[in-house]
Amino acid sequence: MNRSRGVLASAIEAIGGTPLVELSRLTRGMGGRILAKLEYLNPGFSKKDRIARQIIEDAEAQGLLQPGRTVVELTSGNTGTGLAIVCGIKGYPFVAVMSRGNSVERARMMTALGAEVVLVDQLPGSKPGAVSGGDLELVEREAQRIVRERSAFRADQFRLESNARAHYLHTGPEILEQSGGAIDAFCDFVGTGGSFGGCAAAFKEYNPAIRCYVVEPEGAAVLAGDPVTNPHHRIQGGGYSMAHLLMVRPEHVDGYVKVSDEETIAAARRLAKEEGIFAGFSSGANVAAAKRLLEGECRGKTVAVLLNDSGLKYLSTDLWE
Ligand SMILES: Cc1ncc(COP(=O)(O)O)c(C=O)c1O
Repeated sequence: MNRSRGVLASAIEAIGGTPLVELSRLTRGMGGRILAKLEYLNPGFSKKDRIARQIIEDAEAQGLLQPGRTVVELTSGNTGTGLAIVCGIKGYPFVAVMSRGNSVERARMMTALGAEVVLVDQLPGSKPGAVSGGDLELVEREAQRIVRERSAFRADQFRLESNARAHYLHTGPEILEQSGGAIDAFCDFVGTGGSFGGCAAAFKEYNPAIRCYVVEPEGAAVLAGDPVTNPHHRIQGGGYSMAHLLMVRPEHVDGYVKVSDEETIAAARRLAKEEGIFAGFSSGANVAAAKRLLEGECRGKTVAVLLNDSGLKYLSTDLWE
């Protein structure tokens, strides 16, 4: 926990140590509790600052990153923002490759932080604000091309174990420490699955009875085994319809929760109005899923969630009325 550690050497040191807040207004009359980790209070306004730091510091420790070497990553904006901060401070040039379907605030923020941002057009038929697995494949191809062209280090959040390690070493243990270990369940909307995998590993190690649930969009719940009927859901940052996520280990998954765009948006709006917490779509998805669990198999229990990024990143969308 580093919130009150005096003067820090750089913004990198300000990553993590986010508060854990009970959402008692949203759960009034329900029984049970939701404990929310305010990850939007990281320097880049998302949980992805944590993995940016871990990926770069692990690569340095493994001798994979020499001074001046370019770093490249595919991003929906948040990992790129974290990498822009970490690479900027450490002096590595950083190229962020992102779909044009992600909100414009993200590209502008990365540019402001010193990143070179390469935007990739969506597939014909895709909608801005709804990045599909197909759109992401195009971004992946462009990222690979740039890595080859510049002999760059790929900060590969879908494959590098450092992603899950950031949450295994820090996010999960922080939640356990802040709650006194008193959580019964955890649910998480998955993109790469790094947050789910890392936190679930920490929780199961502490107490195997803590139930861990994967959250997916209705109509794109491939990990739950459903067919894809709605690849263009609204929940930015995940739900890419990838049937295999390296970091989601089957032995950590106790169940799946599916959430609709409507309940995700409603939950994000209630978080803002009733809890004073201004977070994005996927945070709404996690809270909507936690409420489902409290109404069903986790009745009367305590469910932990991550509030992944700031609502400020969605001012150009219709998340806010
Ligand atoms: C806003 C947001 N929510 C959720 C996720 C998914 O997190 P993870 O990749 O750890 O599964 C991401 C990942 O980019 C994200 O940016």
